[in-house]
Amino acid sequence: MKKIFITGCCGYIGSHTCVELLNDNYEIIGLDNFSNSKHNVLEAIYKITGKNIKFYEGDMLNRELLEKIFQENKIDIVIDFAAFKSVGDSVNMPIEYYTNNVSSVLTLLSVMKQNKVKKLIFSSSATVYGESKIMPINENCEIGNTTNPYGTSKLFVEKILQDLYKSNKAWNICIFRYFNPVGAHESGLIGEDPNGIPANLMPYISKVATGELKELSVFGNDYDTKDGTGVRDYIHIVDLAKAHVKGVEKLCKTKSGLLIFNLGTGKGYSVFDMIKAFEKANNTKINYKIVERRPGDIATCYADPSLAEKELNWKATLTLEDMCRDSYNFTRNITKAKN
Ligand code: NAD
Ligand code: UFG
Repeated sequence: MKKIFITGCCGYIGSHTCVELLNDNYEIIGLDNFSNSKHNVLEAIYKITGKNIKFYEGDMLNRELLEKIFQENKIDIVIDFAAFKSVGDSVNMPIEYYTNNVSSVLTLLSVMKQNKVKKLIFSSSATVYGESKIMPINENCEIGNTTNPYGTSKLFVEKILQDLYKSNKAWNICIFRYFNPVGAHESGLIGEDPNGIPANLMPYISKVATGELKELSVFGNDYDTKDGTGVRDYIHIVDLAKAHVKGVEKLCKTKSGLLIFNLGTGKGYSVFDMIKAFEKANNTKINYKIVERRPGDIATCYADPSLAEKELNWKATLTLEDMCRDSYNFTRNITKAKN
């Protein structure tokens, strides 16, 4: 069975992807420095799948460690999730963000090249499209005009990967542009557990529902959308994780190439839609107030995911209700565990 090296394996998307790959009998070698995750994720992955991953604790910027990992394991494919992801922090800490999100990828690519491993899945983001004039957004829409160092770090890595592929067509690279991943594994054992006050909508709503936060601030109700609030393409994390299994299958089947896919559902929901869906799915009430727009936010962003369906035979199947139910279930579990 193929051996997959996963960086950032204990994070939100990494942990769910480990579960789906282990369920499909892939062998996993994982790396994480726990800068944004906890050790107990490894136990949770074992509890869900009954299988262990071969885990290395450390930093992707550590070249010697990467060399050791590649020497000790015959790696077939790499999935790179390790990065910092807070838009707000990236504005205040551009050096740290470019170092962790760009320099680390250069180190990884160099060690991959040295070890003749040329198959890579890279986590990019819908943020590379900036404020797209075309909706739904397809992969040929213009990229650029990112508004913060986080977004620009993803853009830079995409450019690096394109230059790499141009330089040597033996590389086999798949770039995934995620829209808005939400939800958690149905077991409630893994999910998104941000430190401090969540910056993203769904974890914030979940914490209002548990009573940990008083009310949601809705960032603007004067956008040019159906109800004035921002519209996004929310995708269940398990659907997103399953796309990586399809990505691995594609890389196994093809010799080389550079493919780019949007991963979204193709549906746009407003902040008010999300509040209503959450209330209905969980039979609860979400208190909110309308506040100023958040700087850097755009009105609308949703995917045309048809290329992934055509090329990867992948399509999101879980509903908004599933996303809201599973998010709340996980948040309740971690709240209980903390108290
Ligand atoms: P996350 O923070 O939950 O997971 C990232 C993991 O990588 C964490 O466990 C962290 O400890 C680890 N890590 C970070 N830097 C590292 C380093 N230098 N060495 C080793 N480990 C390191 O984030 P996530 O939501 O799982 O995101 C995964 C990837 O997807 C990231 O590249 C992110 O930018 C991208 N992405 C995420 C979203 C989203 O909304 N979650 C959207 C678009 C793109
Ligand atoms: N929102 C609120 N109140 C909150 C949080 C968010 O009203 O407390 C609104 C935002 O204004 C936006 C929508 O909810 O209209 C979604 O906001 P999120 O912060 O959850 O998500 P974003 O679309 O802003 O950004 C996310 C990730 C980025 C990634 C982008 C595209 O945080 O890293 O999706 O993939 F780049």
